[in-house]
Amino acid sequence: DTENSLRPSRLEDYIGQEKVKETISIFIQAAIGRGEALDHVLLFGPPGLGKTTLANIIANEMGVNIRTTSGPAIERPGDLAAILTNLTAGDVLFIDEVHRLSRAVEEVLYPAMEDFALDIVIGKGPGARSLRLELPRFTLVGATTRAGLLTSPLRDRFGVMSRLDFYQPEELVLIVKRSAQILGVEITREGALEIAGRSRGTPRVANRLLKRVRDYAQVRADGLINLEVAMAALSFLEVDPLGLDHSDRTLLKTIIQKFGGGPVGLDTLAAATSEESETVEDVYEPYLIQLGMLIRTPRGRIVTPRAFQHLGLKDQREGGLF
Ligand code: ADE
Repeated sequence: DTENSLRPSRLEDYIGQEKVKETISIFIQAAIGRGEALDHVLLFGPPGLGKTTLANIIANEMGVNIRTTSGPAIERPGDLAAILTNLTAGDVLFIDEVHRLSRAVEEVLYPAMEDFALDIVIGKGPGARSLRLELPRFTLVGATTRAGLLTSPLRDRFGVMSRLDFYQPEELVLIVKRSAQILGVEITREGALEIAGRSRGTPRVANRLLKRVRDYAQVRADGLINLEVAMAALSFLEVDPLGLDHSDRTLLKTIIQKFGGGPVGLDTLAAATSEESETVEDVYEPYLIQLGMLIRTPRGRIVTPRAFQHLGLKDQREGGLF
């Protein structure tokens, strides 16, 4: 599908995240040089920044197979045991949302990561015996939105931890241009910059906006994405100049109009906007926080004067808060 065709498969084609790339490149070269499997890698950061892409690149650069699954998909210890026993030496096991593994599944993962062993209990009660099964050496690549969501025994078993940050507009311009080339759509530098600037620092958003702007350009113009077409399309899509969409603005307006600008608790806010708490926390908030429109306090979420300003609303709160 197109989502996958836009993903780079080599580290050298992966734009941005320079520190992460350098880190991974060194450890991959060292592992290859010694003829060993790469140590377990934890990738963390907001959604859409390229954690899955990096996991695939790691497998590709190591020249091994990748098996992809996610925390919630592994329901029972037996599910994980089945995956682990089917790996080949050196393989990458990619577990997305690794913080959502159940306690029982995590218990199976610890000896697997540390000793490449699977402890199987045979029988029940006083006659139960434990059997240790050897596993091939594999590389676990785990992805999560925040490293702090992992239990410490799990976190401690990753040899490499890399944090992905929001991309700079110039990096997103390169990503948009590369994607446009793959999609076979003509785009000017100004058009690419306009999409990049409204992509909330996130390649997944940039690529999605590019596809929708391409549709608009095809139907309402001659197919070329220039500044004028990009601006018209993005305004049609209700993506504002800072990249906030309808959902972001609803979140901010809800805090202002229903909760006096805050503080309001996460669960209360999620209920008031008909969103999942996790979506509010992981998808909407990180970028609003980065823009300085929202802050998290022990008493709840508060919008800043900047949010009022951006929405064209008057901040009628008592002075002294900021
Ligand atoms: N597509 C999505 N993320 C990318 C990245 N970081 N570099 C190149 N293409 C991408």
